[in-house]
Amino acid sequence: MARSARVASPHVVCIEDFRPIARRRVPKSVFDYLDGGAEGEVTLRENCRVFDDVTFRPRHAVVVPECDLHTRVLGSDLALPFMLAPVGYSRLMHPGGEVVAARAAGRAGTAYILSTISGHKLEDVKAASAGPVFYQLYLMGGRGAAEGAIERARVAGFSVLVVTIDTPVSGIRERDFRNGMKELISGSLLDKFPFLPNILNRPGWLMSFLFDGGIPALPNVVIPGQGPMPLVDVSSALAASAVSWSDFSWIRAHWRGPMVVKGILTGDDARRAIDAGAAAISVSNHGGRQLDCVPASLRALPEVVKAVNGQIEVWMDGGIRRGTDIVKALCLGARAVLCGRAYAYGLAAAGEAGVDRAIDILRTDLDRTLKLLGCSSVKDLDRSWVNVPRSWE
Ligand SMILES: Cc1cc2nc3c(=O)[nH]c(=O)nc-3n(C[C@H](O)[C@H](O)[C@H](O)COP(=O)(O)O)c2cc1C
Repeated sequence: MARSARVASPHVVCIEDFRPIARRRVPKSVFDYLDGGAEGEVTLRENCRVFDDVTFRPRHAVVVPECDLHTRVLGSDLALPFMLAPVGYSRLMHPGGEVVAARAAGRAGTAYILSTISGHKLEDVKAASAGPVFYQLYLMGGRGAAEGAIERARVAGFSVLVVTIDTPVSGIRERDFRNGMKELISGSLLDKFPFLPNILNRPGWLMSFLFDGGIPALPNVVIPGQGPMPLVDVSSALAASAVSWSDFSWIRAHWRGPMVVKGILTGDDARRAIDAGAAAISVSNHGGRQLDCVPASLRALPEVVKAVNGQIEVWMDGGIRRGTDIVKALCLGARAVLCGRAYAYGLAAAGEAGVDRAIDILRTDLDRTLKLLGCSSVKDLDRSWVNVPRSWE
């Protein structure tokens, strides 16, 4: 079956429908890396569940022939109020990885955020997209490597730098340990051996992975005097390069464009980000992959919006699976949201066709939700369109 047919209706009607298709196409280790969260996955589950606590207040008998889904983030006009979040190791999900995701985002008129942990060169990713592309920075490989990436991103035309601050060490994703993710990526053949069956039983994926050259290095993490960092142990590389607020003056000296701080969950950190020079923040718990048992992103959003008090843009990410989720986040004060797994499931299921389909599902959801609400533009969404639990006030 052609890839686009595999993810067309009725096989894929909503984002959740991608999961079984992705699960069948990629090895268990890759699927669980994408699907899983930290420790007991409490925050992972809560990120999605919390949207049920917010209900709509529609205005009926209002005819909305056209809905305006456009928004503007940090000087870029977007056709949609959602962007594609940085997703590391996307090339393991599909050889096209970051390049095809960026192309799909650009085709839809929205932004793509490229992770530092990319298997494709940042120049190739930028060239693939007709839309804005932002660069997400980890300090892996040290300041020299980060300075090199920032400069390359600037020259290539990336317009925004996104600094992720919730990853001083990698969260423990227990599924990855059980599946031998580290051994599969960096171990000897003997280390890999017990985990090979779950790779060998996905021959289609294995062929495309080997044809693509196997485990890629990190072409955008170039250590001065050594070259691209091998994709061996990202956890220890992250632990050796934790970002702190004191790093921001150095980052600002190298990046003059707009900067976003990703990973804010409290009003206090939001104010620190403003002091550090952020033009926007993303309220985020890394999709429940870092510290478990922190609040769902949507639940943290009102406190952060209040603390920011309109000084900078507030974005959010975590748990977005439907257009209604996006509308609720916008009603609670987000300028735009980032989708992570929502498009990555599509990528793992069917490559570029899957990302196109994921974006299309969310776009259609948004249009329908606004019409059902009686609202003609995402710019008009505010707290008056939703009920939130009294305890959130
Ligand atoms: C497989 C995977 C890899 C990720 N890699 C990164 C990364 O390299 N950098 C980063 O800032 N966030 C990363 N994230 C977090 C996303 O950018 C985003 O915060 C999260 O996916 C939002 O939650 P959602 O998946 O429920 O939409 C990753 C998320 C997933 C699922």
